Amino acid sequence: MTEPHLHPVQAEWKERALIDDATYRAWYEKSVADPDSFWAEHGKRIQWSKPFSRVKNTSFEGDVSIKWFEDGETNVSVNCVDRHLETKGDQVAILWEGDNPAEDKKITYRELHGHVGRFANLLKQQGVKRGDRVTIYMPMIPEAAYAMLACTRIGAIHSVVFGGFSPDALAGRIVDCQSTVVITADEGYRGGKTIPLKENTDKAIDIAARSDVAVRSVVVVKRTGNLVGWVDGRDIWYGDAVADLSPDCPPEAMNAEDPLFILYTSGSTGKPKGVLHTTGGYLVYASMTHQYVFDYHDGDIYWCTADVGWVTGHSYLLYGPLANGATTLMFEGVPNYPDQSRFWQIVDKHQVNIFYTAPTALRALMGSGDDYVKKTSRSSLKVLGSVGEPINPEAWEWYYKVVGESRIPIVDTWWQTETGGILITPLPGATDLKPGSATRPFFGVKPKLVDSEGQVLEGAADGNLCIIDSWPGQMRTVYGDHERFVQTYFSTYAGKYFTGDGCRRDADGYYWITGRVDDVLNVSGHRMGTAEVESALVSHEKVSEAAVVGYPHDVKGQGIYCYVTLMAGEQGSEELRKELVAHVRKEIGAIASPDKIQFSPGLPKTRSGKIMRRILRKIAEDDYGALGDTSTLADPAVVDDLVANRQNKK
Ligand code: WT7
Repeated sequence: MTEPHLHPVQAEWKERALIDDATYRAWYEKSVADPDSFWAEHGKRIQWSKPFSRVKNTSFEGDVSIKWFEDGETNVSVNCVDRHLETKGDQVAILWEGDNPAEDKKITYRELHGHVGRFANLLKQQGVKRGDRVTIYMPMIPEAAYAMLACTRIGAIHSVVFGGFSPDALAGRIVDCQSTVVITADEGYRGGKTIPLKENTDKAIDIAARSDVAVRSVVVVKRTGNLVGWVDGRDIWYGDAVADLSPDCPPEAMNAEDPLFILYTSGSTGKPKGVLHTTGGYLVYASMTHQYVFDYHDGDIYWCTADVGWVTGHSYLLYGPLANGATTLMFEGVPNYPDQSRFWQIVDKHQVNIFYTAPTALRALMGSGDDYVKKTSRSSLKVLGSVGEPINPEAWEWYYKVVGESRIPIVDTWWQTETGGILITPLPGATDLKPGSATRPFFGVKPKLVDSEGQVLEGAADGNLCIIDSWPGQMRTVYGDHERFVQTYFSTYAGKYFTGDGCRRDADGYYWITGRVDDVLNVSGHRMGTAEVESALVSHEKVSEAAVVGYPHDVKGQGIYCYVTLMAGEQGSEELRKELVAHVRKEIGAIASPDKIQFSPGLPKTRSGKIMRRILRKIAEDDYGALGDTSTLADPAVVDDLVANRQNKK
């Protein structure tokens, strides 16, 4: 592999950045040599109502136990709101830009305080108590942030479900955490279209009732004002309900290890897991990474394009920036509406300094030509970020040259829902950049590459990425299933956290994430278990068996390729393809839409009945010349049919 062009830290950055290379090395050294004293110092960056005396108490062995700052007490909403009132009360906290370019709103820290207090009082009035789970199914409007912060104010655990998920997916998440209160909107706006959030919520609640989970209150925020279904006694209009409530709600003092939120994410098997994050360590880590990775300074206008339904929307749209007293921009819409200039128009309109987005958006915009970018100024920008999937060097160079006009550092940040915050990343003033590499570990992070036998590889190497010691933002458990937590992350390589990613380390010690090595797909930066798509397919009456794999896709990163075996007597057709796509969208949501469906009379299986996905991946990539050893197949002839009818012929 040829090394791409190196972009050294620019001279001015060495001067102005919070962290230069020497500081990075010194702090990193200290952070891994003596985590207790390093994190004792940085743990103080948030405000504690009762200071911690213990710092790190973690073990990746046996039953796995992770505790940080365990005797400290704090409240997340106090750190994200109240704490800034004295010095930044009139500063904009949330800068909201509507789907419609004519709509925007500025919410100051003082206003945010009132909104959060009222919402918290409303939740209390609805009987929500410390430790209760509240499901949030919202569009990208400020009330989504108020709702999340209101939960943290009273110690309720929020579970935000992305607005693109189907009623079935929403129901599954409501049932898993036994959530009896749901916060939603009448409808959402996205790219000029409406999304039926309340209707989906009503359906989800009916589905959840079949599993004996009875949702007793639905708080509905009015966004479009269109008519929606209504259940008296259960449904409440947010606007009406908070009108008479006090803006003051005393914060609940939370233990550092009290649960903060649950976020469901796909794995290689079974239904999505409820990733559980706790209070103190998460906030310390989210705020610290937000400050240093983006070189955030007071007064910067910061924009992360992620939806609050994903972890990026938790850590880097909301909690990290607000804990740091930043102005965080929240965008309701999409990059290509009204046209492909929208991102850059917003950058100019609000004079954005720090911009953080996903490679899939960049690749799509790159494809529509440079003029959409060049007709805007973008002169306010100082730092560009990337997250969610590997960024290919072509997209990286386009981001650097066209969007950043070769003057702005790019931070390619690697992390996961499970990690709570960024683990591998450049720092703008410290790290020479290599397009496509997430570069070096953040403070306190100890990555190791291991081979398939679990042997640790030193120096330049290619292997599976593990992290061998805990950091404060790490997930603590799978909600309601600690055994699954231990099994999923700590059993493949005993005593190590296994990320599920493949990775190469070069001679300079830079990390290059190569993508998932398990049966998890990354489609447009969204994580999708092949098992989930397969179970959606086989739930269709005409499908007898299904196997799903990923294949390289120019814009999405990975596309979803489905091999489908039909029930006896059924015939594959274009019409049935459409029906199956619609079926998967209904079961999971649009993000799981199959890109290719191949009807196949049989699947390649070993004599013990295990599907050989390696072969299916090769055929999906149109690389069937390199199928490797097929001699262990029960019926080698199956492969000839699969090759002959492949859907990705070049
Ligand atoms: C998976 C985690 C991190 C928040 C958004 C996604 C992939 C993430 C990068 C990156 C290469 C990346 C990994 C990881 N990934 N960032 N900068 N370079 N790959 O969170 O849904 O939990 O997905 O996304 O494969 O395991 P997630």
